[in-house]
Amino acid sequence: MSTQPRVPDAPPAERRPMTLPRLAEMKRLGEPIVMVTAYDHPGAQVVEEAGVDIVLVGDSAAMTVLGYPSTVPISMDEMVMLARAVRRGARTPLIVGDLPFGSYQASDTQAVEAAVRFVKEAECDAVKIEMAGLSGGPVDKRESISRARAIVSAGIPLMGHVGLTPQSAAALGGFRAQGRTAAQAVQVADDALALQDAGCFAIVFEAVPAAVTEVVMERMQVPVIGIGAGPATDGQVLVFHDLLGIYEGHAPRFTKRFAEVRRAMVEGVHAYADEVRARRFPAVEHTYSIDPAELERFRAIVSPGRPWDAADFMS
Ligand code: KIV
Repeated sequence: MSTQPRVPDAPPAERRPMTLPRLAEMKRLGEPIVMVTAYDHPGAQVVEEAGVDIVLVGDSAAMTVLGYPSTVPISMDEMVMLARAVRRGARTPLIVGDLPFGSYQASDTQAVEAAVRFVKEAECDAVKIEMAGLSGGPVDKRESISRARAIVSAGIPLMGHVGLTPQSAAALGGFRAQGRTAAQAVQVADDALALQDAGCFAIVFEAVPAAVTEVVMERMQVPVIGIGAGPATDGQVLVFHDLLGIYEGHAPRFTKRFAEVRRAMVEGVHAYADEVRARRFPAVEHTYSIDPAELERFRAIVSPGRPWDAADFMS
């Protein structure tokens, strides 16, 4: 069955919302899928206008917008608040809420409850879960797959995430590429296939050697979105703050800066501060006027030496 193309270059008002069948079709037709993160309303408006296909409200928000040292501390309440802001700013991309650390590890019930919050409270279209494979995440692989099956059985579209899964970075030995030995590559492939079998509609591959991705792709029937996983995937995802040059922290090798927005922001605030200090801002065009007669009346009322009783003049 063919779906209606979305025409990303069309103005947002004329663009059709992204759907799961359309994503599957994009994979079948070899049309690259564009995914990016967003965490607030203006960011969502930007990615909507730019015509991306999928917006991930990523737990990377912990570092990019909330100032935590890793993705681990961010809470479900914080994620839902950000996702609600994104939903208000983006109508046509598929919006995916990223299940944060601690929101799904305890049980299948906890995982479904967290996923339901993204859908009900933030109107997300789907959620994403990080796989904790044999490579040593906080939940073993059977548990991860059980969570994935529970969410899918609850009728919530689920995106998987394999390779470097930042929530388990400590267990994985730090923020390092996964799959650089044959045994590790088998692990990545096994995680991806298990999530595919569990019913994920798409899977993120993060920090996996390009050649390993290429081999695993032969077995992938659902769209694979890569970040540091080479060009063989069905699409790419980057963190909004990395690609726009807003975030100053350490940038992994797989990010590319397509703009230098932070520099422009600092320059803008600097220019504002200079103008305030030099009394060049505000200028006449930034001020409101008052009828001269009203101003005179006002002046007489507030003139120094006159007893102050505003009530006399406000009736
Ligand atoms: O949270 C995030 O931004 C992510 C992407 C890197 C895929 O999970």
